[in-house]
Amino acid sequence: MEKNTAEIIGVEVQQSNLGSYEEARLAFDWTDEEKRFSWHETGQLNLAYEAIDRHAKSGLADKIALLYSDPEREESYTFEQMRQESNRAANMLRGLGIGKGDRVFIFMPRTPELYFTLLGIVKIGAIAGPLFEAFMETAVRDRLKDSGAVAIVTTPTLAERVPAHELPELKHVILVDASKPVEKEAAGAETDKGLLPEDSPFADFHALMHEASTEADIEWVEREDGLILHYTSGSTGKPKGVYHVHGAMVQQAYTGRIVLDLQPDDVYWCTADPGWVTGTSYGIFAPWLNGVTNVIRGGRFSPQDWYETIQRNKVTVWYSAPTAFRMLMGAGDEAVKQYDLSSLRHVLSVGEPLNPEVIRWGHRVYERRIHDTWWMTETGAQLICNYPSMDLRPGSMGKPIPGVEAAIVDDQGNILPPLRMGNLAIRTPWPSMMRKIWNNPAKYEEYVRIPGWYISGDSAYMDEDGYFWFQGRIDDVINTSGERVGPFEVESKLVEHPAVAEAGVIGKPDPVRGEVIKAFISLREGYEATDELKAEITKFVKEGLSAHAAPREIEFKDKLPKTRSGKIMRRVLKAWELKLPAGDLSTIED
Ligand code: WTA
Repeated sequence: MEKNTAEIIGVEVQQSNLGSYEEARLAFDWTDEEKRFSWHETGQLNLAYEAIDRHAKSGLADKIALLYSDPEREESYTFEQMRQESNRAANMLRGLGIGKGDRVFIFMPRTPELYFTLLGIVKIGAIAGPLFEAFMETAVRDRLKDSGAVAIVTTPTLAERVPAHELPELKHVILVDASKPVEKEAAGAETDKGLLPEDSPFADFHALMHEASTEADIEWVEREDGLILHYTSGSTGKPKGVYHVHGAMVQQAYTGRIVLDLQPDDVYWCTADPGWVTGTSYGIFAPWLNGVTNVIRGGRFSPQDWYETIQRNKVTVWYSAPTAFRMLMGAGDEAVKQYDLSSLRHVLSVGEPLNPEVIRWGHRVYERRIHDTWWMTETGAQLICNYPSMDLRPGSMGKPIPGVEAAIVDDQGNILPPLRMGNLAIRTPWPSMMRKIWNNPAKYEEYVRIPGWYISGDSAYMDEDGYFWFQGRIDDVINTSGERVGPFEVESKLVEHPAVAEAGVIGKPDPVRGEVIKAFISLREGYEATDELKAEITKFVKEGLSAHAAPREIEFKDKLPKTRSGKIMRRVLKAWELKLPAGDLSTIED
């Protein structure tokens, strides 16, 4: 990635919520931020209340909260309507006997119902588990099983990937017809739970919502009570459930104000799906905690549809990802000129390294700076960012938010001086930090193995002016189009294929997707290394796990490099791929 450390794109806005970065850092105190919430006065706390009900009760009742924009459905909901619909969802879940601390999953396309449901889950103090709609059966089963989910809200089509018979703890599968708004006629008594066998786990979302009252008692919780579980990948083992609590709202709201720079009249659009952390922390919580109109767009990526979404809704703040910006750049300048994007005031990016050339391009064609932000599923909210009031250095992730200390440390925890590469570490704790890994305390300990620090797994350096520069992952985690994929999960699926003896999976650099997944495979006796077999194996992973986790490239090898204890050495595979020296091979098998 081409970087010019002396390059600066200066401040463009006159006014932004943060003001002077240095002054804000010095004066900062998290307890001041807490005073902005109603629970500071009342002692009654629930994130969904702060995000929706509080606004509905304090002058923003008729303000549009959700602006849903999809080729097939065009709807908007005010804060008051969101309050009522999320109350219905809360009552629906309570009616099924679901309550505080229960894990309730959501597995459906980005429609208004997804948002009502998630807020309803939070209102009753249950823990939401959002799943990306591309997940296939193995991915869904692993996550539901690990979390002991009691219910899942999904569509009839996606429900085919929910193996309820293998999940004894799963009591309810609530089916949503995604094409149907709640207010319309209920889905009909034919599919009503009443007509299903006594012990059927299936329930009709629309029928239940229709019956449910629009008034509900909120479950008041503690700051440390569970909010959401986001499953994410590491380099070893199955995906892990990253557990966040209601107290995360303090930082989600704060960064919404100073990083997204949300202001009362903004129309905000975050392009991420709630199956990933960006789609909840910044697709749901941050905008609504700040009482801002939130655009939700269903459907897939296309440059025309995306620009159209900005133009039609007059989007002012836009949060997206490097892969999307690279694809938009690929679609060319002419595509931009066909739309009126003049409403845009502030543009941001997250998820993978943002190329300086993309920033330069965006600056030229959108006439806006693209502000890179760095954070992770585990961190719950933004930590290192570029701010509207700060000079931008293309290629740098920016500086830590006020209230947070970041450093580059060595493996013993010693802070390294500027320009030295090492572990990107964050001083513990911060309000939105994960509180645990579900069912797996040992995994959590790996992050905090150096006392006082959270070790991110990213390597970086800090320049002499305090800007942080991303260098890479320290482990084998793959980042493809901004989506985190664990090689182990893909390898486990690959070896389930009858032809595959062994498999090792790596991320291969790719100009558009950042990385693509490449699998090295050794075949079982009797199988021939053909292109047909490659295609079949790819399909097997696509249909078993998910499309984004399927290898884009497969290479057959007679033998894979392994340690003496039998572990496949991905490091060596990566060196093969990049035609680099393989490094220390003293632990290799033969
Ligand atoms: C990478 C997404 C470079 C990084 C919110 C991190 C980035 C992982 C950036 C987390 C950035 C995220 N520049 N790399 N601005 N932001 N990453 O959990 O490797 O899906 O550890 O969270 O993405 O991905 P996750």
